[in-house]
Amino acid sequence: MNILITGGAGFIGFNFIKFLLSKYKYTIINLDLLTYASNLESLVDRVDHENYHFIKGDICNRDLLNDIFSQYNIDVVINFAAESHVDRSIDDPEIFLKTNVIGTQALLDTAKKNWKVSSDKYDREFKKGVKFIQQMKCMVL
Ligand SMILES: NC(=O)c1ccc[n+]([C@@H]2O[C@H](COP(=O)([O-])OP(=O)(O)OC[C@H]3O[C@@H](n4cnc5c(N)ncnc54)[C@H](O)[C@@H]3O)[C@@H](O)[C@H]2O)c1
Repeated sequence: MNILITGGAGFIGFNFIKFLLSKYKYTIINLDLLTYASNLESLVDRVDHENYHFIKGDICNRDLLNDIFSQYNIDVVINFAAESHVDRSIDDPEIFLKTNVIGTQALLDTAKKNWKVSSDKYDREFKKGVKFIQQMKCMVL
């Protein structure tokens, strides 16, 4: 199974990736923009594991998301990528909207597009076994 984990350099994402790699044989693709919130000490881009791939990038970048889905044949998306430091939303709410709302929408659209069985826009059949898991966002405006 190929799992796209976004925000995997953050507090929850990185610990979750370490847990998965220690217990399962899933292929993990970690997409993270490495913002101020990421845990650089975790050396997230240097985890030495054959099933682990790190990509530095933005969940708002639809071309990049499409490339990742095509290259890795993603089965599961777990979205931890977020502006999560609530105090910062008072100074700069726009980046919260961008990542937490527009970025999540970009991920959802990309997953839907890549997992649809038919090109008929009204068809609701998706590839078997796929999942999109959204970690809760907090946002103050
Ligand atoms: N930490 C908690 O106790 C807790 C509890 C409940 C829910 N949550 C939610 O879980 C999610 C993750 O929390 P966390 O504590 O790991 O956050 P975090 O701030 O530690 O990590 C967020 C990660 O997302 C990355 N990121 C930010 N913008 C990005 C973008 N546009 N594209 C790609 N990557 C981007 C950052 O670089 C960072 O590595 C958030 O939605 C948060 O609200 C956290």
